[in-house]
Amino acid sequence: MRMPGIIERYHRFLPIEPKFIVTLQEGNTPLLPAPRLARSIFGEGGAQRTAPLLYLKLEGLNPTGSFKDRGMTYAVSKALEEGSDSLICASTGNTSASAAAYGARAGMKVSILIPKGKIAKGKLAQAMIYGANIVAIRGNFDQALLIVREIQKMKLATVVNSVNPYRLEGQKTAAFEICEQLGTVPTYHALPVGNAGNITATWRGYREWLAGRSDLTLPKMLGFEAAGAAPIVLGRIVKSPETVASAIRIGNPASWKGALAARDESGGLIDKVSDREILEAYRSIARWEGYFCEPASAASVAGIKKYAKKNLFKAGDVIVCTLTGHGLKDPDTAICVSKPPLVVSPEIEKIRKVLKL
Ligand code: F0G
Repeated sequence: MRMPGIIERYHRFLPIEPKFIVTLQEGNTPLLPAPRLARSIFGEGGAQRTAPLLYLKLEGLNPTGSFKDRGMTYAVSKALEEGSDSLICASTGNTSASAAAYGARAGMKVSILIPKGKIAKGKLAQAMIYGANIVAIRGNFDQALLIVREIQKMKLATVVNSVNPYRLEGQKTAAFEICEQLGTVPTYHALPVGNAGNITATWRGYREWLAGRSDLTLPKMLGFEAAGAAPIVLGRIVKSPETVASAIRIGNPASWKGALAARDESGGLIDKVSDREILEAYRSIARWEGYFCEPASAASVAGIKKYAKKNLFKAGDVIVCTLTGHGLKDPDTAICVSKPPLVVSPEIEKIRKVLKL
């Protein structure tokens, strides 16, 4: 059966003339129950119905391996509708991979600015194979975004960063799907925060999906920045952000205000998690549930772990964590934090010995 992309599925929320739709059939990603991970976080009660229920929204299973595809299908379709033939973005990697893919499918020119040496290998490979024009700047994401905003003022290309309003419109569909998949509304929704577009969009999605439903309570939004790149938590711009989670290595988020509104309107919170906590969650998602996400994605689970220790959650709560990007995007980090393969000669006895079989 053909699954249409998000614009067709939610056309009521995403108006456009159908002939301009550029889609890779994004969205419709799994909402995976995570009982073993829940037990590791909440203790033995985690497997029972009475303990908090944990779900992982696998946004890494979108066509280019991240949630960006939801916003990109709509932004690129709208650019086409408006007569543009050229896209540009600044990126920590995933936006550029998605822009390059949708731009290729639309036959548009794609220009990309990335911070030199700070893009995970898989993301760079994607932008390259899709044929984008890539410039690596000797600077960080925030500086790249400033330049892109200048180019926007000069009207030289359509900017497809989340400062483009169609990006957030498309991204809000993750909340629609979660409500449909659960058949209810989560109590909490946790996600990593970088440029803060996704928390803004997801909150908007819940509000619109549940508009007029006074019988249902909106979820509390929980956003987690990396400790070395936590401008919202600190309340000031971070000039030189640093984190192992390169996707969220951002010191001056474009949707700062949107994130604060999501936090305050939902009664949620925005906090930071350390690189150690991120990497610990990154490994435990893979080992407990068999799902491989990229480090930034694990900030959501790291945050849940942090607040489980503070007893924020109670029995029966439904917690959704967005796992924003696929683990294969960043093979270097996975290899770096894991046990290397054992090297032995091809003899069964030696292999049995090292494998303890
Ligand atoms: N997770 C991943 C895997 C990301 O790539 C990003 C952002 C985020 C979380 C944070 O989302 O910015 O909406 O708060 N990546 C952008 C990029 C900045 O250029 O790919 P956000």
